Amino acid sequence: MSRFVLSILFILMVGNAQSQTLAHQRCAAFERGININNWLEEYWNPNWPSADGYNKSDVEAMKTAGIKSIRLPIGFSFISDTVAPYYVDTNHVLFQRIDSMIKWTDELNLKLIIDNHHGWELTNENWRNHKDRFAHLWGVVAKKYQYLDPERCFFELMNEPPIAFNDLDSLNLLFNTAIDSIRKYTTAHSIVVSPNLGSWGMALNLYQPLADTNLIYTFHCYDPLDFTHQGFTWHDPFYPEGTLFPTTGDPFYENFLYESWRRVATWKATYNKPLFLGEFGVGSYADAESRCRWIEFVGNKIDSLNLTWFYWDWAGGFPMFNSHVTTEDSIIPCFKYALHLFSDTVSGIEVPENYNTVYVYPNPIQDMFTVSGVSSDVKLVITDATGKLVYQATNSGRINTSFLKPGYYTLFISDRSKNSWLKLLKQ
Ligand code: BGC
Repeated sequence: MSRFVLSILFILMVGNAQSQTLAHQRCAAFERGININNWLEEYWNPNWPSADGYNKSDVEAMKTAGIKSIRLPIGFSFISDTVAPYYVDTNHVLFQRIDSMIKWTDELNLKLIIDNHHGWELTNENWRNHKDRFAHLWGVVAKKYQYLDPERCFFELMNEPPIAFNDLDSLNLLFNTAIDSIRKYTTAHSIVVSPNLGSWGMALNLYQPLADTNLIYTFHCYDPLDFTHQGFTWHDPFYPEGTLFPTTGDPFYENFLYESWRRVATWKATYNKPLFLGEFGVGSYADAESRCRWIEFVGNKIDSLNLTWFYWDWAGGFPMFNSHVTTEDSIIPCFKYALHLFSDTVSGIEVPENYNTVYVYPNPIQDMFTVSGVSSDVKLVITDATGKLVYQATNSGRINTSFLKPGYYTLFISDRSKNSWLKLLKQ
């Protein structure tokens, strides 16, 4: 090989190595995570921050499930004075609770994101009034926790920046001022930036990375909102129960799901910055089969984009367990497989986006049914109501499903040009 070719190879190798920064490595090391909700961010609870939100055995159960990282949402704004010099009481019991979680994650060798959650009602008009308060808070938090191992502890500036604060230059100025405040105490720690418009994947295409090279970016996925948030009276607007997935609700909302994942993929490829999915979840009021189809869809996107993630939540309103018993016996199978939890080692089923020019007849199906409108090398996957794989084949035409018990199933169809999924009823 000539010296010229060797030099080019060397430059390429070094370039490639440099593109994987320390922040990339740390982001990849999050692997699978859980949000610790309804505890330190739960400002509506009269006993906030309650003593009995979570304990070490909860975190042990998470570890047993395969969880490697914890995102801890904290209502810091509720203990920050609103007038200069913006005093923050570091003896407040809130810090004792945070310290318990630091101790547990340390003992269990888990990573921890200290996430500044709720209470920052910023708009394009009022944000200047909060800028110094916000930066001061981060100085206090960074000073207190600068001793923590930067491989294991992370600072997240602000959960879901408000949609009413959509002036990007101002938002970035607010973020950069807080980053400067943290950097006075530590340059070693990676800072998590949750970009504009509620960390919505749809808005990521508008967001450009900041100058600090030790940042990790994050986004959230709850699309379509009228499906994932149905039945929750606390959500404004209220979405009534009954919306299935794929949608029987507003298709406009469902399109956000597909489009936002396209934008996330483009952003990741364009900027080569560390990026993870910081929140995603589907509420318990949605029907069980639809919940499975949704988590399979998102799990597939996570796998194909090689993302690390934090599910919202563990066993609360968006549970991955059939009961409040958080063991392998109780996890909803489709959650286990889609997110590779407990003993699951299989790679996810490839779940296509909807593309309805495929015909299945008869449906309701009997022992045999026919799939048409696809090429001969089609991939067919059938899952039951719990998301368990019951059939897979790589051909179309007449399909024999005489072995299936009566009930509802989902058929995923994927070929070179068409992707679809359909609900099947076996009679
Ligand atoms: C909010 C929570 C909410 C969750 C799901 C979080 O970012 O802070 O209050 O339950 O998203 O909507």
